Amino acid sequence: MIDVLSVVSECAPLVKTGGLADVAGALPGALTSEGVRMRTLLPGYPAVMAAAAGAEAAMEIDDLFGGPAKVRAATVAGLDLLILDAPHLYDRPGSIYLAPHGGDWSDNPERFAALSWVAARIAAHGIGGWHPAILHGHDWQAGLMCEYLHDAGTKGVRTVMTIHNIAFHGIAPAAKLRQLRLDPARFTPEGFEYWGNISALKAGLMGADRLTTVSPTYAEELMTPEFGMGLDGVMRDRRADLSGILNGIDEDVWNPATDDQIAPYKTPKGKAKAKAALREEFCLPDAEGPLCCVVSRLTEQKGLDLLIEALPALLERGGQLALLGSGDAALEEAFRQAANHENVAVRIGYDEGLSHRLIAGSDAILVPSRFEPCGLTQLYGLRYGTVPLVALTGGLADTVINASPAAMAMGVATGVQFHPITAGALTNALTRLCDLYADPDTWDALQKNAMAQPVGWGTSAARYAALYKDLLA
Ligand code: ADP
Ligand code: GLC
Repeated sequence: MIDVLSVVSECAPLVKTGGLADVAGALPGALTSEGVRMRTLLPGYPAVMAAAAGAEAAMEIDDLFGGPAKVRAATVAGLDLLILDAPHLYDRPGSIYLAPHGGDWSDNPERFAALSWVAARIAAHGIGGWHPAILHGHDWQAGLMCEYLHDAGTKGVRTVMTIHNIAFHGIAPAAKLRQLRLDPARFTPEGFEYWGNISALKAGLMGADRLTTVSPTYAEELMTPEFGMGLDGVMRDRRADLSGILNGIDEDVWNPATDDQIAPYKTPKGKAKAKAALREEFCLPDAEGPLCCVVSRLTEQKGLDLLIEALPALLERGGQLALLGSGDAALEEAFRQAANHENVAVRIGYDEGLSHRLIAGSDAILVPSRFEPCGLTQLYGLRYGTVPLVALTGGLADTVINASPAAMAMGVATGVQFHPITAGALTNALTRLCDLYADPDTWDALQKNAMAQPVGWGTSAARYAALYKDLLA
C-alpha cells in the first residue's frame, strides 16, 4: 500500500468551483484498487466543517499564520479527509477564493500557504501515526508545500505537483516573504521568485520531484510561450519530469442509466424524454436543428465570446442553444441579450442538478475554449450521447475524435473539432454539426461511438499509481 496525501483547495461533493474539485473527489476512490491509500488535506471552509461536524482533532497548531488551528480527521462521502480547521483563514461566507467585492481575498497567499505548510508538517511528523510517503499537490494553492518540506529537512517524502491550470500563479509581493515563512535565500529565479514577486506555483514547479498535468496535449502546450503563461521556460527545463495524465469522470455520478435528474436511458434513442423535459424546462419550442448546450464558467478561457459571434450559424439552421453558466459580467449580459431569440435559453448561475439535465437532454455540447487543460464537460457529453463540438486544444484534442469522412467511415468519430480557435472556424464547425445532425444515420452512429468511448478513471488511475511506485523505487 502506498500512502499519499493529496493537498487541494476544493473537493467534490463538499466544495467545488470547477473541474479541480471533481478530480480531487474522484481520484482517491479510483486509486484504491491500485494499492494506493490517498487521504485529502482540505481547508475547513464552512461547508466542509458542516459536513464533518464532530470530527476529532488529530493535530493542533498554536499559530498558523495568525491564529490557532487544528487538523481534523473525518470520512465524508467515502473520502478520507484531513480538514484544516483554521477559522481565521477559512470561516467566511461566500466564494472560497473571492471576497464580496469580486477580487481575491486579500489574504489568499496566507490562506493557501497555511494549507501547504500543514501538508509539510504532516509529512515531517505524521498525523495520528500515519505517515504519507508522497505529497501530491494541486495547482498554486499547494505549490509552497515544496518549500516548507525543504525547510523541514524531511528526507524520503516525495512530491508530485499537478497543473490543472497554469493561468493562476498564486502571486504574492516580496514584502510577504517573512510573513509567509519563506526562506529569503531561495527567493531567486532558480527558486520561487517570479519577476520580483513570490510565485507559489513556481515554487511547486521548481521543487516537486515530478510534475503532471491533466492531458498529454496540454503537457506539450505548456512548454510553448502561447500556453505556458510565462512559465513555459520552467516547463521546458523540467520536461523530463513532466507527464500528461488525462482526467477521468466519476462514472457513478455521471451515468445516464441511473441519473435521477433525468428519465434514465441506456441508448441514444432513450434520450428523447430527457430532451423533451429539457425543452419544457427551458421553454424552448420544437425545432429542426440540434439542441446544443453549454455548462461552463463564463471566462476568457472558455471562448464563449466566440460563440456569441458564431451563434447565427446555428440559429439559421434551426438549431437551439441552452446555456448554464456564470462569471464575467460582460459575457453574462451578452448571453442574456442572446436569449431574446426564441431558440436561445440562458440560466445565469451555478446548479449541479441542472447541469445533469442539460447535458442529458441536449443533442450536442459546445466547448470552444481558447485553452483547456483537460475539460470535463465534453467527457460528460460523450457518456450521455451528447455529441461534443470542441476547439482543437489541450484535453479537448485528446478526448474527442473529429467526424472527418475517414473517421466516420472507420466508425470511430465521436464529435466535431475546430481550429484555429476563431469565430469563423466555430461558425463553420456549427454548420458541420448541423449537417451531421440532418442525417439521422450519421448522427446515430456518432452518438453510439460517443457513448462507447471509455471516459472513466481506470487507465489514468493506473498511471498515477505507476508514477508513485516509480517515484518510491
Ligand atoms: P474548469 O475546471 O476549467 O471550469 P472543467 O470542464 O474541467 O472546467 O470542469 C468544470 C466543472 O464545473 C464541470 O463539472 C461542470 O459541470 C461544472 N460547472 C461549470 N459551470 C457550472 C454551472 N454553472 N453549474 C453547474 N456546474 C457547472
Ligand atoms: C482546470 C482546467 C480544466 C480541467 C480541470 C480539472 O480547472 O481548466 O480543463 O479539466 O482543471 O483538471
